[in-house]
Amino acid sequence: MPDMGFREWIAAGQAIADGQLMRYADKAHYTARFERELGEHVGAKHVLTVNSGTSALIAALAAAGIGPGDEVLVPAYTWMATAAAPVQVGAVPVLVDINETLTIDPEDIRRKITPYTRAIIPVHMVNAPCDMDAIMAIAREHNLIVIEDACQSGGVRYKDRYCGAIGDLGAYSFNKMKNMNIGEGGAVLTNDDAFFVRARSYHDLGAMVRGHEDNFNEKEFVGFNMKVTEIQGAMLRVQLKKVQPLLKRMQKRRAMLAEILSQSPHFKVTPHNDPANAVSLSILAPTREAAIELTQRRGVWNRLRDSSKHVYTNWEPILAKRTFHPRMNAWAWAKRPIDYSLDMCARTLDILDRTCVINLGLRYPDPVMAWIAKKIAL
Ligand SMILES: Cc1ncc(COP(=O)(O)O)c(C=O)c1O
Repeated sequence: MPDMGFREWIAAGQAIADGQLMRYADKAHYTARFERELGEHVGAKHVLTVNSGTSALIAALAAAGIGPGDEVLVPAYTWMATAAAPVQVGAVPVLVDINETLTIDPEDIRRKITPYTRAIIPVHMVNAPCDMDAIMAIAREHNLIVIEDACQSGGVRYKDRYCGAIGDLGAYSFNKMKNMNIGEGGAVLTNDDAFFVRARSYHDLGAMVRGHEDNFNEKEFVGFNMKVTEIQGAMLRVQLKKVQPLLKRMQKRRAMLAEILSQSPHFKVTPHNDPANAVSLSILAPTREAAIELTQRRGVWNRLRDSSKHVYTNWEPILAKRTFHPRMNAWAWAKRPIDYSLDMCARTLDILDRTCVINLGLRYPDPVMAWIAKKIAL
């Protein structure tokens, strides 16, 4: 994540000094300017800032008209929000295996499509982009909506595009762990006018008092309040300027470490869907035991199997199909029985058992990290 400091403090102070913190009000401009700047940067016609990445996913699903009876394909390795978001609009998540790239497996997407599948949420996990070429081809073939979960990959490139601006809609998160960090926040990205208006309506209780001129004949409908304040908009403008310099440093460091780690006889470097732009680095050990040994003895960071609610086996409310009210239960509206079990995505578990994500150590100089990488590798 980029550093947060003096410039964000000044930006937040300016917004407070203006004395106008609501994003839709006379003289409000910080959030709107951030949206324009992010859209220009990643090539999305519309950006809508919301209060979290989870809200961005829910608003995107609502914008696309996903609802009861619909099935949404989500990877078995992602933060639980990706699987919970469809439930909030009355649809059910169907779990898809990942492959060694740590992202949703296009072959398993094909296997999981049913007549009720309406959308795919590919997740660009730990800054590793999905195989978007394959995913978009499958989606077009089967007439499915693609909502990219780019919460963990803000500003990351996939070939000549940016994660989150390739599918029909995209979701960003700006929480503390993300590439742009303001504590909490998110954004919906889309190039589709109607999807944008619907997302805007949903995030602002129908936006019925706003008088937006660009309504594209979409009627207002009941929604939530997912809006942000101008303080968040002002801080995000600063964070946006920091993201590409950060990713460039990550790319350089990643290349250096990958070169060293790829010489190891103990493991291989995780394959990547766009090696030329790679900013994420993990290793894949031959066995679970070898991965555990690497984490414990060689000081490699974080075996992915231990990453809590990023692993589907820890999504207890989803596996139990439990919602706040029994009659507001998406699984009751599904057009076929949807069952989950702990071993349903065994391939994902095997990969997560054997994968360790490598901290790029940007706070340390190159020689220190090169020395550590050699120690790990040999
Ligand atoms: C892959 C993924 N999707 C969705 C989210 C939800 O974002 P937020 O925490 O901003 O609601 C996260 C956040 O951790 C995430 O990592």
